[in-house]
Amino acid sequence: MKLKYSTMKIRKAVIPAAGFGTRFLPVTKSQPKEMIPIVDTPVIHYVVEEAVNSGITDILLIIGRGKRAIEEYFDRSWELERSLEEKGKYELLKQIQNITSMANIHFVWQKEMLGLGHAVMHARTFVGNEPFAVLLGDTLIEGNNGQPVTAQLIDVYKKYKGSVVGLEKVLPEMISRYGVIDGEHVEGRVYKAKGFIEKPSVREAPSDLAIASRYVFNPDIFDFLEKTKPGKNDEIQLTDAMKAMLSEHAMYGLHFDGKRYDVGNKLDFIKTNLIYGLKTDDIKDELKSWLKTFDF
Ligand code: UTP
Repeated sequence: MKLKYSTMKIRKAVIPAAGFGTRFLPVTKSQPKEMIPIVDTPVIHYVVEEAVNSGITDILLIIGRGKRAIEEYFDRSWELERSLEEKGKYELLKQIQNITSMANIHFVWQKEMLGLGHAVMHARTFVGNEPFAVLLGDTLIEGNNGQPVTAQLIDVYKKYKGSVVGLEKVLPEMISRYGVIDGEHVEGRVYKAKGFIEKPSVREAPSDLAIASRYVFNPDIFDFLEKTKPGKNDEIQLTDAMKAMLSEHAMYGLHFDGKRYDVGNKLDFIKTNLIYGLKTDDIKDELKSWLKTFDF
């Protein structure tokens, strides 16, 4: 008898973070793009925090060559902790210790960068027979009204009992950069997927809702990933496996309530740092005054 996944608590998340980050060269030659800071905190920290605030307790980070800084970030740093303690910097000490205790963090290595779908396949043993979340490691999403976007997706998963993909409205001139849902409106911000179309032209696009960095899947996705042949850029595309899964399983899209920052591209990286800088207690006033004097 088939397990009723939809009644299971979602406690596992997978964060792919092995990609080359070619849009952010040269820094990504030796620095993982997931470690790029938003003010003083790497983007992957925010991603892990989103998962934890959505009820996730176990996280698998998919990493590769050149990504050691991610491992070190989530490891304990005894020397640093001792030094902060000796200097009486207890606030900082608490902050540093919290990084390692947020969740049970596991690692797996994608040895060849054969695409996002290929990266997710590495999570099969970790996930087992449970539903799980996927959060892209280079993208920060701020949920509105305090509810993290992964938690919003989990609510839809529980209600509709099927895999869910996060959707974001994009401008017509941007649509050809994204995978887009062909969906039937169900209620509120929820759509039932009829298809997914990779990078359509404006004319071909069935909607303006793009697949955007967060997913909740039934473990069945792995059967479809295993059968997925390399597609665009010769990579195993997660969207192709999702399309195949649609022939046997109902899937949903949630136009999430939140703001997405893709820190893997330069423009968004700079915008995100300004936005977050203006929220940061210790620098916001000076930053604001400086921006006012800036001659555009
Ligand atoms: P991207 O397509 O944005 O990552 O994948 P990329 O390939 O590193 O970026 P560019 O286009 O070369 O600049 C989204 C997420 O999936 C991970 C990336 O690390 C990123 O967090 N990814 C991508 C993998 O883990 N493995 C891959 O083979 C590809």
